[in-house]
Amino acid sequence: MQIPNFETSIFTTTSQLALQHNAINLGQGFPEFPMPLGLIEEVNKAMIEGHNQYAPASGASSLRIAIAEKIQFLHQQTLNPDHQILITPGGSYALFISLMSLINKGDEVIILEPAFDIYKPLIQLPEGIPIPIELNFPNFDVPWDEVKAKITSKTKAIIINTPHNPSGKLLKESDFEQLIEIVNHHNIKIISDEVYEHICFDGFKHRSILDYPALMSHSIVCFSFGKSFSCTGWKIGYCISSESIIKDLKKLHHNIVFCVDHPKQIALAHYLKEPNNYLQLSATLQVKRDLLRTLLKDSNYTLYPAHGTYFECYGFEKISNLSDTEFSQKLITNHKIATIPLSYFYSKKTDHKIVRICFAKNDDTLVESAQRLKSYV
Ligand SMILES: Cc1ncc(COP(=O)(O)O)c(C=O)c1O
Repeated sequence: MQIPNFETSIFTTTSQLALQHNAINLGQGFPEFPMPLGLIEEVNKAMIEGHNQYAPASGASSLRIAIAEKIQFLHQQTLNPDHQILITPGGSYALFISLMSLINKGDEVIILEPAFDIYKPLIQLPEGIPIPIELNFPNFDVPWDEVKAKITSKTKAIIINTPHNPSGKLLKESDFEQLIEIVNHHNIKIISDEVYEHICFDGFKHRSILDYPALMSHSIVCFSFGKSFSCTGWKIGYCISSESIIKDLKKLHHNIVFCVDHPKQIALAHYLKEPNNYLQLSATLQVKRDLLRTLLKDSNYTLYPAHGTYFECYGFEKISNLSDTEFSQKLITNHKIATIPLSYFYSKKTDHKIVRICFAKNDDTLVESAQRLKSYV
């Protein structure tokens, strides 16, 4: 197999540079605060109870049932836990097998940029062709007319992401209406990356593909427990789709990793039973977002609105004429603070003079980060 010539991830490069310069790392997206102790205790219990051998290939049945109950509670959608849910080693892997199952050589997949960096390589692995479309700037709305114009007989799928990394934007009712119109007219699948489903602010509720029965049979929806329970190192997620699509995904999954960490699945099944365990994350993170925004209110950064995820976009056009890559490098080397240049989320390296920051950090880190960001004047 010819491995495509993938770029080194900007997250790896930035984290290495941050380490080298002893910089605070607001680049890569992971929480600095501890994950819930109750969930750790559930894992210990599951291990002591003996759930230490291979799990069922599609996932522990108790976890699939708990997910189906959660979806019923949140989205009033009835799922068959045996045939519509597959437990995966993380959200990225859920995206990977979704694309592997749908894409053949030469098939086109529409992605909306700025986009999470793995979408393109995952499309290229099965020799698909990414078709990037830039979100409108500065509001990051989807240019639906352009999306429709770019659909060809080769278009197999569109990847959507809500809440959106890196902009923090949430898709709205009218966006889903556009998707319904698209699937009504074209044989296209939607891969919906909803890993930040439980991080929404300002009273906004996460709108999911699962809220729209008309879209369900055309979609694969990907989730991540790492994001929902602040344990990105666990790499456990799941995908939801129609019975026929899940059947295909299972064929791939059973022959790639076969199954996922068993004790953690048992623990998650127990932990999901209490909705507050996943519903409280938004409030915790909104306080952090607001703390950093308040600290930077009187700065020269342009703070773009962000209603979800633990990322925000900060514009520096009033501070420097440098490119976003140069600016973020200077932030690391001279001001000891790491961020991600937004141009890395664009195929054309479009530079809007923005850096992405992750605010899922302890309060003292955020206070120190604000000082360091403001020291660049
Ligand atoms: C938009 C998006 N999708 C998927 C993932 C991957 O999720 P996981 O860590 O569960 O593989 C991430 C992680 O940063 C992400 O930001």
